[in-house]
Amino acid sequence: MNPANRPIVLFGATTPSGAAFLNLAAGRSVLVAGRQCPAHWPPEHFLRCDLGSPAPPAGLIRPDAVVVSFAPIWSLAPFLASLLAASGSNIHPKPSLCGVVACSSSSVLTKRFAANRFDRDLVRRLATAEDTIEACSNAAGISCRILQPSLIYGQAGEYGDQNLSRLVQLMARLPVLPIPAETGLRQPIHARQLAAVALHLVDQPNAAPRRTALGGDECLSYASMLERLREAVLLLDQRDPVGRCRLLPLPNRLFHLLTAPLLPLSAKGFEAVLRIEANLADFPKAHSILGTAPQRFPVAPLAPSAKTKTKTNHVSPACQP
Ligand SMILES: NC(=O)c1ccc[n+]([C@@H]2O[C@H](COP(=O)([O-])OP(=O)(O)OC[C@H]3O[C@@H](n4cnc5c(N)ncnc54)[C@H](OP(=O)(O)O)[C@@H]3O)[C@@H](O)[C@H]2O)c1
Repeated sequence: MNPANRPIVLFGATTPSGAAFLNLAAGRSVLVAGRQCPAHWPPEHFLRCDLGSPAPPAGLIRPDAVVVSFAPIWSLAPFLASLLAASGSNIHPKPSLCGVVACSSSSVLTKRFAANRFDRDLVRRLATAEDTIEACSNAAGISCRILQPSLIYGQAGEYGDQNLSRLVQLMARLPVLPIPAETGLRQPIHARQLAAVALHLVDQPNAAPRRTALGGDECLSYASMLERLREAVLLLDQRDPVGRCRLLPLPNRLFHLLTAPLLPLSAKGFEAVLRIEANLADFPKAHSILGTAPQRFPVAPLAPSAKTKTKTNHVSPACQP
């Protein structure tokens, strides 16, 4: 079969990346699998399926299909292992699927040496899930690509991110936002860029290694990221309250002193604040995998601020800026 005609089974459709994927894959055969049907998606192309359930529904046995997932990889891994274990039996002599493109997180690399237990546990869960998916795909003889995206932002359909949009909301509320004078690098990726890479790998798995850390097309300092976000919001509405917020760069040592009281309250929160100074960037760029021109940060559309209603997910532990 021509890879561009392969049917797709999509998990995580109710996320910005999933909604962007559905948009980019319009016209292709896509079955959405999940706990709830996305708004405006035809119910006949939806399969109710909880990744936490012990047995995969029979409708998921599709030897010609590629599974694409934007759901938490630690939920997908055991589910996929049990689905692929059905392969090779008398009932299902072929593998239940023909490929997997699964979303993990760059946290598996960047939080490896975290001082707090929460982040170290997250790394362990991500790494174990990646290993499980790779092993069961190898055993079934199907292709497997794991994407480890950095900070995902933006709006797609009804779904908006809960990380950069929160920073915009913070700027909208505060007249002054203290930040360290020297901030680290970030490489945020728009949900549509991530979705485009995932779709590209459905058709051309060899366009990327088996596990690919992935960022947007630009590496920029945390401070520039905030400034660019503010400019983008003001370009849409000059009267937006973010225009009143000034970034206040403080000497790094003074910033540490001011944030130190957080440490006994939340080691994880304190480390997240310290990470503002860390370089979480220099990952392969989305445009280099897609073979397209680089896109300047921030790519539109951004998730609207709190005053506009939009569907958002809970904040994934894999996604804190
Ligand atoms: N956000 C970030 O900045 C970031 C950064 C790095 C990596 N990631 C990864 O990128 C992907 C998308 O991230 P996200 O933050 O937008 O979404 P997320 O909160 O990690 O995942 C939410 C999605 O997973 C589905 N899901 C969760 N549990 C499920 C289950 N038991 N059965 C079926 N579906 C289930 C949800 O469907 P329902 O509609 O049923 O709830 C929803 O579509 C995830 O793999 C995440 O780990 C995110």
